[in-house]
Amino acid sequence: MSTTPEASPAPSTPDQNGDQSMSKTIEWNPESWRNLIAKQQPIYTDQAKLDDVLGRLATLPPLVTSWEIENLKKNLADAAEGKLFVIQGGDCSENLDECSTESIVRNLKVLMQMSLVLMYRSMKPVVRIGRVAGQYAKPRSKDTETRDGVTLPVYRGDIINRSGFTEQERMADPDLLMKGYERSALTLNFIRALCAGGFADLHHPENWDLGYFSTSTESNRYQELVHSIGEALQFMETVANASISQLESVDLFTSHEGLHLTYEQSLTRQVPRRDGWYNLSTHFPWIGDRTRDLDGAHIEYFRGIKNPIGLKVGPTMKTDELKKVCDVLNPENESGRLMLIHRFGVEKIGEHLPRLIQAIKSSGQNVVWCSDPMHGNTFSTSEGIKTRHVDQIQKELLSGFEIHRAEGSVLAAAHLELTGDNVTECVGGARDLKESDLSRAYKSQVDPRLNYEQAMEMSFMIAEQIQKQ
Ligand code: PEP
Ligand code: CO
Repeated sequence: MSTTPEASPAPSTPDQNGDQSMSKTIEWNPESWRNLIAKQQPIYTDQAKLDDVLGRLATLPPLVTSWEIENLKKNLADAAEGKLFVIQGGDCSENLDECSTESIVRNLKVLMQMSLVLMYRSMKPVVRIGRVAGQYAKPRSKDTETRDGVTLPVYRGDIINRSGFTEQERMADPDLLMKGYERSALTLNFIRALCAGGFADLHHPENWDLGYFSTSTESNRYQELVHSIGEALQFMETVANASISQLESVDLFTSHEGLHLTYEQSLTRQVPRRDGWYNLSTHFPWIGDRTRDLDGAHIEYFRGIKNPIGLKVGPTMKTDELKKVCDVLNPENESGRLMLIHRFGVEKIGEHLPRLIQAIKSSGQNVVWCSDPMHGNTFSTSEGIKTRHVDQIQKELLSGFEIHRAEGSVLAAAHLELTGDNVTECVGGARDLKESDLSRAYKSQVDPRLNYEQAMEMSFMIAEQIQKQ
C-alpha cells in the first residue's frame, strides 16, 4: 500500500519513547514531520505542479524492497560486532546528466576493487553501500549565491534545481523530482543486472579493471593481490571440490542523504506482511550533520521508518544530545538499525570521538560506528577551489581506528566520497597531486572526491587497520 503525500495515513509505529523532554509525543506517520521545522528544503512556486508530481511518485513502484532492507540491517548488526566491515562510497552528489554506462560502471568497479582488497587483506566479509541511485539532494551552507553582483538561490542538487547560474536554472522544479526517481531507477536497474549477470563474480576480477591506471603503483599492488586471490580461490575449490559459492558474487546496497523530505515521503510505503513503514527509495538513507536537530523534521521523519539509517555526527554534537537522538531514532535499541557516521576533521576527532563513544557505551545503546574522514577536512585553496588532502583523510581514518580500539569499541565502516573517474579534486596521494593540478580534471559540482588511485590507497590502509581490530 502506498500513501499519497496529502493523505493522512494511519500511524503504524506509535511513539515508544517515554521521555517527554524529547517532544516526541506526537504520533508518527509519513507526514508527521510536516508539523516541525524542516531545514534545507526548497521553496516551490508552482504548488499545483508539485502536488501533481508527488501524486504520481507515490503510485510508482518502489526502487528497493523490504527484504533487501532487512538483509542490510542484519549485515549492519554483524558489522557492529566486528564480524564484517562496511564500505560506503560514491559521488558527493550524483548528476542527472551523468547517469551513463561509463560513470556507473567506473564507480562500481572502484567499490568492487576496494572491497576485494579489504576482504582479502583483512579476511573479513565486506558489505558495500553506494552513495548511488538517489544521491541527488545537497545541504548547503547558504541559501543564495552571489556572482558579479547577481544573487540567485543556491544550487541544491539535481533533484531540486540546476547548477547553471541563471534564474531559470536555480528555480526549484518539481519535474526534477520525477527525473531523479527515474534516473535512480535506471542506475539501480543497471547495477542489479551487472551484479546478477557475472560482473560481480569474484572469479573474474578482471571485469573490474580500470584500464587507464594499469601503470600506477596502486594498480600494480591491486593486480598482485588479484593474482593471489585467484590462486587462493583455486586452491580452496580444489580442496573443497566445489566452487566457493558464497564468494561467487558480491552485491551493492544503495544509500543517499534523506534530505528532501517531501520526496522521501512519497516513496515511504507499507508492505504486505510486515509492520511499519519503509522508505523504499533506498536501502540506507542518512541524516546530514546540518539537519539532525532533535526537534527538527528530519529526526521526526527518520524515527518512524524501518530502514537501517545513518546519522552524521560532527563536532557540534553534544554528548547528551547524542544519547537523546539515539533514543529517539532507535527506541527499541535494535541492533543494526542506527549507524553513527562521525566526521570531525583530523584536528578535532581526538577531542570529540572518545566522549561520544564513552557515552554510547555507558548508556548501552546499540550503534554501528562509521568514520567519514571526508567532510571535516574540506578547505579552499587560495584560488577558492574546494579540496581535501589525502594525508588528512588518512590521518582522520587512522585516528578513528585507534580511538575505537583504545575505547574498546569497533569501527565497523568507512564512508568515502570517491569516483572511478580520473579526476583531480583531492590533493596529495600516491601521485602527490598539487593545488595546481586541481584545475586539470575537477568535475564535482559540490565536494571533492578521491580518484581511483587515492581510493585504492585508502582501502589498503583500512585493510591493515581492520586486521588490527
Ligand atoms: C555529505 O555526506 O555529502 C554531507 C553533506 O555530509 P555532512 O552532512 O556530514 O556534512
Ligand atoms: Co559531500
